[in-house]
Amino acid sequence: MKFNIALLKGDGIGPEIIDSTTQVLDKIGAKFGHQFDYAEYLAGGCAIDATGIPLPEETLAGCLASDSVLLGAVGGPKWDTLPGHLRPERALLGLRAALGLYTNLRPARLYPALAAASPLRADIVARGFDILIIRELTGGIYFGDRGRREGPNGPEAYDTEAYSVMEVERIARVAFESARLRGKHVTSIDKANVLESSRLWREVVHEVAKDYPDVTVIDMLVDNAAMQLVRNPQQFDVVVTSNMFGDILSDEASQITGSIGLLPSASLGSTKRGMYEPIHGSAPDIAGQGLANPIATILSAAMMLRYSFGLETEAKAMEDAVDNVLNAGHRTADILGGAAQRPLSTSEITELILLEI
Ligand code: IPM
Ligand code: MG
Repeated sequence: MKFNIALLKGDGIGPEIIDSTTQVLDKIGAKFGHQFDYAEYLAGGCAIDATGIPLPEETLAGCLASDSVLLGAVGGPKWDTLPGHLRPERALLGLRAALGLYTNLRPARLYPALAAASPLRADIVARGFDILIIRELTGGIYFGDRGRREGPNGPEAYDTEAYSVMEVERIARVAFESARLRGKHVTSIDKANVLESSRLWREVVHEVAKDYPDVTVIDMLVDNAAMQLVRNPQQFDVVVTSNMFGDILSDEASQITGSIGLLPSASLGSTKRGMYEPIHGSAPDIAGQGLANPIATILSAAMMLRYSFGLETEAKAMEDAVDNVLNAGHRTADILGGAAQRPLSTSEITELILLEI
């Protein structure tokens, strides 16, 4: 089969990790008889430098015309002082909205071979964990009404959290469907003791739950969830939550795996087209030095094969290749831990992964 992939390399280490990933995709293509065609577009800081805006029209059109989008990372200190609507991050929000990507899948799984890198106590990580965070991605406070105004105490600013029944219902369905394929347990996270939008969220999740009697569901307040994640992460299977709570909790969940350089993500909508990117950022401090860990991006591409292209065997082959390299003890600098060996460069670890395919 043939697929068109829009590549948004972005900033910092983005170009290096995307280059590694296309090599791995091409090897998979050669082995299984698929062709991946790439078209590169500017997004984020590099787009600001070249065109003055973070998400040029041409990039949006290219992504809309693609079978899927693979993104490296955007942002860096160079663009940190620009006004909100011109920051590199706007490219992400613009793409999510324009492509209708309301579902964000962020798996946080503990790699047994890397358990020592987790900041959690050894007896907690010893039990392992495998959490799928499902974050609502096109609603809530990220996209609600915001502004500045004159208040009773002088100038003030406001942002609005709003969720429609439709928005909660469709993300809840994704959560229950996903749970069916895993541990059959959903934790829905909200702040229903304070927020009206959370009370609606809770009602709708329980309405949808009636269609999934084989899946258990519990509600958890977000402050408690933040605590439970570090106290007993084993209790979670699928987590479903709003845009902002998901932003915060997914960083916490990725950190407790001890290996944020390994974690992929997928953003999906109601079509097959998705946007796939590593969880980590653009790491400007090590950009251009050939030190970046490409694994999170490679695993993101594996998710693309699975969710957008329906290529489960090929996705698994990519994930197994990564597992084999890690289990053999190979490490990039970010996941070195206490290991005695020399950290591998981006191209060295990519070579090893290619050899496993
Ligand atoms: C993320 C990021 C983005 C978000 C930023 C860069 C806009 O933190 O993908 O989690 O908040 O969604
Ligand atoms: Mg975030």
